[in-house]
Amino acid sequence: MNDGGGRQFGPLGTTLVIIPTYNEVENIRAIVRRVRAAVPEAHVLVADDNSPDGTGKHADELSSEDDHVHVLHRKGKEGLGAAYLAGFQWGIEHDYGVLVEMDADGSHRPEELPRLLTALKGADLVLGSRWVPGGRVVNWPKSREFISRGGSLYSRVLLDVPIRDVTGGYRAFRRETLEGLGLDGVASQGYCFQVDLARRAVKAGYHVVEVPITFVERELGDSKMSRDIFVEALWRVTTWGVGERAGRILGRKSP
Ligand code: GDD
Ligand code: MN
Repeated sequence: MNDGGGRQFGPLGTTLVIIPTYNEVENIRAIVRRVRAAVPEAHVLVADDNSPDGTGKHADELSSEDDHVHVLHRKGKEGLGAAYLAGFQWGIEHDYGVLVEMDADGSHRPEELPRLLTALKGADLVLGSRWVPGGRVVNWPKSREFISRGGSLYSRVLLDVPIRDVTGGYRAFRRETLEGLGLDGVASQGYCFQVDLARRAVKAGYHVVEVPITFVERELGDSKMSRDIFVEALWRVTTWGVGERAGRILGRKSP
């Protein structure tokens, strides 16, 4: 990983906070209000997968009341990764300088976003991190903490990326970083999307900084984590890790 030593980083430009949603009707209004209050100059893009509970309609109402709020309506549930890719593309087309990933359920506190953005002034990518000193998780059962820490450790060792919280989903990218990652080649749909982007950023030599966050488990609505998402993550991380090792042994770079 590049340490950014001595490099000059350009100014940040306007921030777009992308919030993917699937059945978040209990959370959508509160999260948008909190983002708008915490970072008033930022814009919000809700990327909704045609939620059956009407989250998209609430987002449209918010958007008609506030010119900093935008909505991307997608056909149906295609996973977190696909929603973010569409959101990134929208943000790049609309000339935003910073693209932020944030969950809708309040786990990623908008009040901490200014700290992520400050760190981004001297970085290519900032990761909100539960597993660095000062980071923590509130209201998670031990079992979920074990899975998350285990997933991060497995990915870190197998993929050889020096990141403590490699699966986290509270992040701030410079647009140039996203443009440099080759997003066309990202196939991950579920939460392993986060591992995929982090590993690409490290391999590409970007300066990646982890900032401690307090992750607060949702109080309303349901997690979309499922067995399929877990299996996809395990399968893909293992495939990337094995592919890289084979590539090194055969003396060529893996894709
Ligand atoms: N558009 C869309 N489509 N949004 C989705 C989908 C989908 O298929 N699946 C989930 N989301 C949205 C949710 O509505 C929520 O806003 C956000 O993605 C995170 O979903 P949760 O279901 O609340 O995730 P979690 O709390 O279990 O997982 C968190 O931790 C993971 C592991 O660290 C997230 O921060 C993940 O990004 C992270 O990888
Ligand atoms: Mn959640």
